[in-house]
This record gives sequence, structure tokens and C-alpha cells, in this order.
Amino acid sequence: MKAIVYETYGPPEVLRYAEIDAPVPKDDEVLVRLEATSINFADRAAMRGEPRLMRLAFGLTRPKATVLGRDIAGVVQAVGAKVTRFRPGDRVAGEVEQRGFAELVSAKESYLSSIPHGVPAKQAATTPVAGVTALRAVRLAGVQKGQKVLVNGSSGGVGTFLVQLARLAGAEVTAVCSTRNVDLVKADHVIDYTKADFTQGTKIYDVIVDLVGNHPLAAMRRVLAPQGIYIASFGNGGPVLGPVGKFLSISLISMFSRQKLRVLVAKRDIRDLDELLRHIADGAVIPVIDREYPLSAAADAIRMLEKEHARGKVILSVE
Ligand SMILES: NC(=O)c1ccc[n+]([C@@H]2O[C@H](COP(=O)([O-])OP(=O)(O)OC[C@H]3O[C@@H](n4cnc5c(N)ncnc54)[C@H](OP(=O)(O)O)[C@@H]3O)[C@@H](O)[C@H]2O)c1
Repeated sequence: MKAIVYETYGPPEVLRYAEIDAPVPKDDEVLVRLEATSINFADRAAMRGEPRLMRLAFGLTRPKATVLGRDIAGVVQAVGAKVTRFRPGDRVAGEVEQRGFAELVSAKESYLSSIPHGVPAKQAATTPVAGVTALRAVRLAGVQKGQKVLVNGSSGGVGTFLVQLARLAGAEVTAVCSTRNVDLVKADHVIDYTKADFTQGTKIYDVIVDLVGNHPLAAMRRVLAPQGIYIASFGNGGPVLGPVGKFLSISLISMFSRQKLRVLVAKRDIRDLDELLRHIADGAVIPVIDREYPLSAAADAIRMLEKEHARGKVILSVE
């Protein structure tokens, strides 16, 4: 089978579209023939081995996993002896620990959700990492009807889901993005960050979800209600520790603050994915897909993502 492989950390040039052995599913695994996958911040981090702290998990000197990719959506090809929920022909989506950018992927049954009827695999492929992160942020914030919610970084993979999910919960949403995305984000209010700095404004928010991490915490807290909640969910930071320093100070300051300051920690839970896929099937949430590339062009897709900002999700399709 074909897959996107890499042997060393580095820029997109380290990626190759190569022939490798197909995986054989273990007893608790499902073999999925991929229809689509999408690119996440985590894939770029795994490819570059940055922040370097992540190499403790990815491999100290070279990547332990040689196939990149986390999101998968496709059709069940075969199942292991202990698999009970799926059978060949079923349509499934989920998040794997690497190995996702491949024609065939073997995934634990417990990592997979059924794709509801009517939801295209390309849409399902946008959901496991970015969509579920957005759903978890809305849930962690306990977003309620009528609350004022601000999303910093609203036009990317996570942000486009977050704006929709917060509005679905009944919130009045302010989206922060650049000029070219003002019409893309379907929020109640939009702030173009090239023209105005929301942390210097007079509007106070009940919830701030920060997907960028470009403002000091004190500035964010200035526009957060006295009992409001701030959620940090960004991967940006220094080349060695990434956002870890900022996350530690957020956790420390939260101990002495009436405002709730939280760091969103990634956690796979297919109940979240099931819920999100249901919203998509109902038409309540519509994944925003910027561009589609063939699997073979994964390096081009990541290069584009790194040079330009994505508008929603970038997907790779497998013919
Ligand atoms: N906690 C978790 O489990 C988890 C999981 C997934 C992702 N994340 C994190 O979530 C963040 C976003 O991920 P993503 O996949 O959505 O990334 P993405 O698709 O690359 O989107 C990033 C967005 O940030 C916006 N942006 C850049 N500079 C900005 C600024 N100065 N002010 C406001 N917005 C700005 C860009 O908007 P414009 O194009 O309009 O500039 C872009 O749309 C990443 O840092 C990632 O690490 C966390």
C-alpha cells in the first residue's frame, strides 16, 4: 500500500509517498481502507519534531512512527477476532496515534465511530482531532445560552468548529481572525486582528477560548468577566518547550484567581466524536474545508499550511 513516510524530523521535504507493507489488524483492531484524512497542527509538530519536548514521545533522535497522520475516515476492510461493533463495509472515522496518512490503517475498535448516513468521508475526516477539540473546549467552558464567547483563532481547523458549536449552545460569539476570513467565520461579531486588538476593547466576555496564545494572559483577563472562564488550547511557543511555560503559569495563576483559567488537554473519547458527527448529520455543524489534496501530495499540503494560514481544514483524499 502507499503511505506518507518519513525517517527524519524536518520540513515537508522529509516526507515521501512510498510503498510499504499493509498493516495486519490485531484482535482488537479494525483495518480501515482510507477515503480521506485531514492535516492537524499535531502532524506538523510530529513531522518537525517541534517543540523538541515532544520528541520524548515521538522519538528522541528520529521519529519512532514512520507514517504520519492522525485523522482517518474510510471503510472497514477487515476486523480482528475480538471486534464486535464493526464489520467489513461499515464507514468509520477516528483518531489514531500516527500511521493515518496511508491507504490502509489498522486502528483499535475503541478509537472508531460510525460515520452517520449522509456524511461524506471528507467531512468526517475533519472531525476527530480539530472538531473534537472544539467540542471539548465548549464543554469545558460550560458554554450557556446568552453567554458572550470570544474565539481567538476562529478561522482555522479548530476555530471554525468552535464558533459553530458555541453558537449551537446559544452563545453570542465573537470571532477573531484576519481580514480575508471576516466573511468565512459565521459568528455574531467579527474582529479583524490586523485592525483592532480585542484585549484593548471595552467588551467583556464570559468565555474566551484561545487557539493562538499571542496575547499575555493579563491582557486576556482584562476582558474576561470576573467569574468568566479562559481556555488555553494552543500549541505555539518556543522551539524547545512549546506552550508548556505558558500553560504552567496559567495553572499557577488560576489558583489565586476568581476567574477560571484552564488548559485544554487532548483526550480521545469516541462519545465526543459520535456527538459531533451527529451534529454534522443533522446539518447543525458544517465542516469548513479549505482545500483538498491527493494523499500523494501531503508534503505540498503541509507546505501550504505552513506558508499560508488555513481557512478551516485541509484534507487529503485517497482515491
Ligand atoms: N488542546 C488540544 O487538544 C488541541 C488539539 C488540536 C489543536 N490544538 C491547538 O489549537 C490551535 C489551532 O489549531 P488549528 O488546527 O485550528 O490551526 P490552524 O488551522 O493552523 O489555524 C490557526 C488559526 O489561527 C489564526 N491566527 C493566526 N494568527 C492569529 C492572530 N494573531 N490572532 C488571531 N488568530 C490568528 C489563523 O487565522 P487567520 O488565517 O485568519 O490569520 C488560523 O486560522 C493550535 O495551536 C493547536 O496546537 C489543540
